[in-house]
Amino acid sequence: MAVNNVLARIESVLQEERVFPPPKEFSRRARLKSLAQYRKLYKESIAAPERFWAKRAKEELVWFKRWTKVLQWQEPFAKWFAGGQINVSDNCLDRHLGTATANKAALIWEGEPAAPGKPGEERTLTYKQLHHEVCRFANVLKRNGIKAGDRVLIYLPMVPEAAIAMLACARIGAVHSVVFGGFSAQSVADRIQDSQAKLVVTADGGFRRGAVVPLKQNVDEALTLEDARGGLLAKSIEKVIVLRRASNEVQIQEGRDVWWHQELEQVDAHCPAEKMDSEAPLFILYTSGSTGKPKGILHTTAGYLLYSKLTTRYVFDLRDEDVFWCTADVGWVTGHSYVVYGPLANGATSLMYEGAPNYPEPDRFWRIVEKYGVTILYTAPTAIRAFMKWGVEWPRKHDLSSLRLLGTVGEPINPEAWIWYREHIGGNRCPIVDTWWQTETGGILITPLPGATPTKPGSATLPFFGIVPEVVDDYGRPVPPNSGGKLVIRKPWPAMLRGLWGDPHRYQQVYWGEVEHSYFTGDGSRQDKDGYYWIVGRIDDVLNVAGHRIGTAEVESALVSHQKVAEAAVVGRTDAMKGQALVAFVTVKSGVHTDGALREELRQHVAKEIGPVAKPDDIRFAEVLPKTRSGKIMRRLLKQIAAGTEIKGDTTTLEDLGVLARLSHAEE
Ligand code: PRX
Repeated sequence: MAVNNVLARIESVLQEERVFPPPKEFSRRARLKSLAQYRKLYKESIAAPERFWAKRAKEELVWFKRWTKVLQWQEPFAKWFAGGQINVSDNCLDRHLGTATANKAALIWEGEPAAPGKPGEERTLTYKQLHHEVCRFANVLKRNGIKAGDRVLIYLPMVPEAAIAMLACARIGAVHSVVFGGFSAQSVADRIQDSQAKLVVTADGGFRRGAVVPLKQNVDEALTLEDARGGLLAKSIEKVIVLRRASNEVQIQEGRDVWWHQELEQVDAHCPAEKMDSEAPLFILYTSGSTGKPKGILHTTAGYLLYSKLTTRYVFDLRDEDVFWCTADVGWVTGHSYVVYGPLANGATSLMYEGAPNYPEPDRFWRIVEKYGVTILYTAPTAIRAFMKWGVEWPRKHDLSSLRLLGTVGEPINPEAWIWYREHIGGNRCPIVDTWWQTETGGILITPLPGATPTKPGSATLPFFGIVPEVVDDYGRPVPPNSGGKLVIRKPWPAMLRGLWGDPHRYQQVYWGEVEHSYFTGDGSRQDKDGYYWIVGRIDDVLNVAGHRIGTAEVESALVSHQKVAEAAVVGRTDAMKGQALVAFVTVKSGVHTDGALREELRQHVAKEIGPVAKPDDIRFAEVLPKTRSGKIMRRLLKQIAAGTEIKGDTTTLEDLGVLARLSHAEE
């Protein structure tokens, strides 16, 4: 992976010179009030990390048994708080019960509205109620054969039961793997096979823009899919628990499928939290990498909990009275850390919304902000760019004065969108935290602290406590300020991934094999003269399409699994709305007619293999793909063609120069 992939992108952010100091109003009451305060604490955190984290672990968490060693580090394997015993659900729920937080809203849920002008369904669960529901559902899991260490696949819409199911797993020590509701039956089956899950928690259906997503039907199909040798992919599944949500018709297979509500009738709400080792697996979350198969990112108990709790409090400067709205789906890591675990560990009120930002109308988010008095809004740049396109009249219809802090995550934010967000949503009074992190990092690593850090549009600014990033060249050497390079993290941190499920070798190779003694993020970055990080996105073969992480190899293998396709190469192209768009170059088998119908067939095929999020935006048919003499597809060239830019560089190694000409003239 070469650094020069980054350089062009760096140019575009080098121009940005605006600086926004934290608004005085905000700083006065903030937890950290100045850059000097931040720097002092940061210095402490990296000078003596074990002391820093031990102090926090003691103050912040409720333990069954104190740890014996803060950090055991044998690169690349970390153990944090070894010897300790703790439970995540106990820390998110039980600990609040004897306090004033017990009757506070833990989750506020807004369902998708039935029609324009109609309010969505609405539910609030206090900490006491959520505790009750989690205990009951934990007993349901036990009744259905789940024990500590077993894997449970959760495939639900954005409803409170998704959080309940996650916390119930954590309560009994089961390992959850949440699969985003937009993924296909095939993706569900692959994840079951990899994790060897015993049970699926799903719903009859979920609502999305007025339509019903047939989740249970997808699960049924997943359970019939076979691998290349004719074996069932999901044969480890013994039970399916089905939540009634959309009341669409579903098949119930006796002995295997049970209804959530009927099961609840069989249990009580007494379920003590299991004493788990600090390093017991908490969840597996699959994410795209640069190979054809998604990777099962493994997170464990104590370190993850501590880090998600602390980052939520500091990065969002959380206060008791906040209504915190992170708009991510629980199917992504952001939903894990900043809808469920981080906010609940802090006793905060977390808002969950089931539907789309523009259904039934483009003011859906602003309606919700006004209705609940949302104080902190955490969303993705791609959503902000969509709001910009839909126009300021939509936010203007609503009173957004409750907002006091805005956040973004998931991809680089362009300064224009940052400024728009600040002005039209934040009324020029709310600080913006542009938070950089990844599924692998478990929590936010590079971010402003809103009362302390002056912000620059497009920069995620400075590292959080205990995080030691660096920008390096291809040989792992630090690069001078303003030069582009690879972003690495030099030291272990409590929420780091502990490995890839079932594949320690690949973990070592992918993350610790690229740059010596460092965690390689896969991102390109530069650091400016003030030490601020400007992250420009992936430099590997992973794309970020509308905030969704998609491996090009995964889409390629989906395409070539179609009977008419001979070969495929997928590259990214810059897209004003989505950040990046997927462009597929496809060669078909002989005799196959290439036309618009085939193009659509292939897009649908990818949706079926992976999920609608991975559908190529553009498919271009080619007679042959341009290759080097050694047979490697010339991706750099394809990227230039996809971008419609002039072809640069040495093309003499092309197998067939004619191909190039044909490809660079568009569509068919
Ligand atoms: O390229 C970076 C980008 O999103 C990637 C991680 O994607 P995922 O694991 O799906 O997690 C997304 C939510 C944490 C990163 O490698 N990314 C995330 N946040 C930012 C970002 N790029 C620039 N700025 C950010 N704030």
